[in-house]
Amino acid sequence: MITHKRSDFPQDFQFGVATSSYQIEGHSFGGAGRTHWDDFAATPGNVVRAENGALGCDHYNRLEEDLDLIAGLGVDTYRFSTSWARVLPEGRGTPNQEGLDFYDRLVDGLLARGINPALTLYHWELPSALADLGGWRNRDIAGWFGDYTDTLMRRIGDRVWSVAPINEPWCVGWLSHFVGAHAPGLRDIRATARAMHHVLLAHGTAIQVMRGHGMKNLGAVCNFEWAAPVDDSAEAAAAAARYDAIYNRFFLGGLFKGEYPDLVLEGLDPHLPKGWQDDFDVITTPVDWSGLNYYTRNLIGPAATPWPSYSEHTGELPLTSMGWEIYPDGLRDFLIRMAREYTGDLPIYVTENGMSAPDQITGGAVDDPHRISYLNVHLDAVKQALAADVPLKGYYIWSLMDNYEWALGYEKRFGLIHVDFESFARTPKASYHALAQALRS
Ligand code: FCB
Repeated sequence: MITHKRSDFPQDFQFGVATSSYQIEGHSFGGAGRTHWDDFAATPGNVVRAENGALGCDHYNRLEEDLDLIAGLGVDTYRFSTSWARVLPEGRGTPNQEGLDFYDRLVDGLLARGINPALTLYHWELPSALADLGGWRNRDIAGWFGDYTDTLMRRIGDRVWSVAPINEPWCVGWLSHFVGAHAPGLRDIRATARAMHHVLLAHGTAIQVMRGHGMKNLGAVCNFEWAAPVDDSAEAAAAAARYDAIYNRFFLGGLFKGEYPDLVLEGLDPHLPKGWQDDFDVITTPVDWSGLNYYTRNLIGPAATPWPSYSEHTGELPLTSMGWEIYPDGLRDFLIRMAREYTGDLPIYVTENGMSAPDQITGGAVDDPHRISYLNVHLDAVKQALAADVPLKGYYIWSLMDNYEWALGYEKRFGLIHVDFESFARTPKASYHALAQALRS
């Protein structure tokens, strides 16, 4: 069982569940345009079994059922995203009315059930037409993103509870353009530097557009991975500091201090666009809260390669089916670090936390004690952060239901609800029932 009760947390504390558009909707329905994930997945070797988001969880066709399942959990908030290519199939120009109608129904359906709609504007499904123009490498993307924000907010901006422009800038920038593990699958340091900067410029532009609409409760969502040196050597400490700067400090530094860490500039400065320092006015446009996605830690050592010259190692802690170590202390320590070093009194939300496992249906039920215990130890970390006076206002679980886990296809199951990817039948897991019970208590 979940060993925590709602009454253990501050009165206005928001419990939520999270999903994203491309991972669940079924992007082949409803007139959505092609995205760079469709192209990435169609390129052999990028995605397990070349799976894509064409069908997802068939959420587009099962909206009401899924909204009822969210309501059945008793959560306060549902964090979801809208797909740029569903709203604007070519990325710019004529909107897809069917797509806008869908998001309209989604928001109204949440409100009718007493759930706060927490919107993310971009969870990685860049329209292919914009990828053709250079995607995140092209500075114009800030304006395109601002226009998309404007189009969507004219339709649903009056009813969403919170908005974050971009999910996880590290994934948009580094993972997708340096590591090459996500669309567009580049391994190019110049593209990386530009994407990392432009994603923040797009964030600030969207915040300004939404302020222009008089909107409130706007935030930023970054992901973090605790970087621990693999051994006691000075070389490992230096490599871990570099990893930490790229992964965890670059985007917070840009958003909340208007500066990038020296440890990142030492590698990326020559590749950043000219005049990047002048963009901090837009990038630091004030937000109302800061979101933190957290899953794991990584052990870092040196490497005899060009910058950033680090190597990654797996430690001794229990692993999830992603191969990620379970390390709840990192959640507590990041919450404390974020408040003390970057955001001060600004409200913080844990916008994603959860685990994958090879969950199966047996006798009509799914027993996932591993997920229940993962949630318990991470809620312990949340309580420790609250006790350390972090202004933490909510905790959202990734994910409502099993879904398309990007380059790993459909086999990494993160859901509180099991999805059969042939029949699309939903089966709430034991963790769903345990959470529902805890939230009623
Ligand atoms: C996060 C993503 C989310 C999901 C989880 C497991 O980085 O935001 O879409 O893939 O990881």
